[in-house]
Amino acid sequence: MNKIFIANFKMNKTNDEVLEYINEFNKLIPKNLSDEICICLPFTALCNGKFLDERVVLGAQNMHEQEFGAFTGEISADMLKNLNVGLVILGHSERRNYFNESNEKINKKIKTALRHGLKVVLCVGETKFQRNSKKTNQVLKSQIEEALVGIYENELSSVIIAYEPVWAIGTGEVAKNGDISTAVKVIRDVISNLYSENASKNQKIIYGGSLTSETSKNILKNDDICGALIGGASLNPNEFIKIIS
Ligand code: 13P
Repeated sequence: MNKIFIANFKMNKTNDEVLEYINEFNKLIPKNLSDEICICLPFTALCNGKFLDERVVLGAQNMHEQEFGAFTGEISADMLKNLNVGLVILGHSERRNYFNESNEKINKKIKTALRHGLKVVLCVGETKFQRNSKKTNQVLKSQIEEALVGIYENELSSVIIAYEPVWAIGTGEVAKNGDISTAVKVIRDVISNLYSENASKNQKIIYGGSLTSETSKNILKNDDICGALIGGASLNPNEFIKIIS
């Protein structure tokens, strides 16, 4: 089964460093690539996306829900589209935690992104505390239900759900395959209740959290997930390529 590999650079790399990365990365992409690759650069480096191998989708890490206007420091969907961005990460736990993004705000952003023809990676996942209090299922359910209000079933083909347990992000602690499968089942049940069995079966779900070329081997064998969202390990082109291959 073809997999989706999405790199999230977060707040790392200057323009010059991104150019250096792209040069290296392009050389390393296998000729017979069948998987999908997307690299989510910082806003300041998106203009360098045109140098990426044409098989790589250019991604952004956030955007504003409004079309344009007096929102100092923000980036609109049009601005992303104009730079050939094809996908945007929304609802990342770092946005939720450090910038107080609510499910309602994430929902507005998803609607705007879809209206502009952008694919969306909707990130969901529980904190350690929520996990220890046995709230994981409830958290996933409300994050998905509230983020997808007013989104039609036929739009789900443009939405990838990333299960990123907060306790696994940047900690070196990778979720166990069993835990990932349990979370994926919860996510599919939510989609099935909101939409249909068919929508649930077809929903693309990926995993993110402390993946490296070593830890990803086992995780990617799990047929319940169709890819990976990679932070730290994607910053090194060799390491990212090792994960893909
Ligand atoms: P790490 O791979 O650095 O744990 O980050 C995961 C992540 O947050 C990707 O969006």
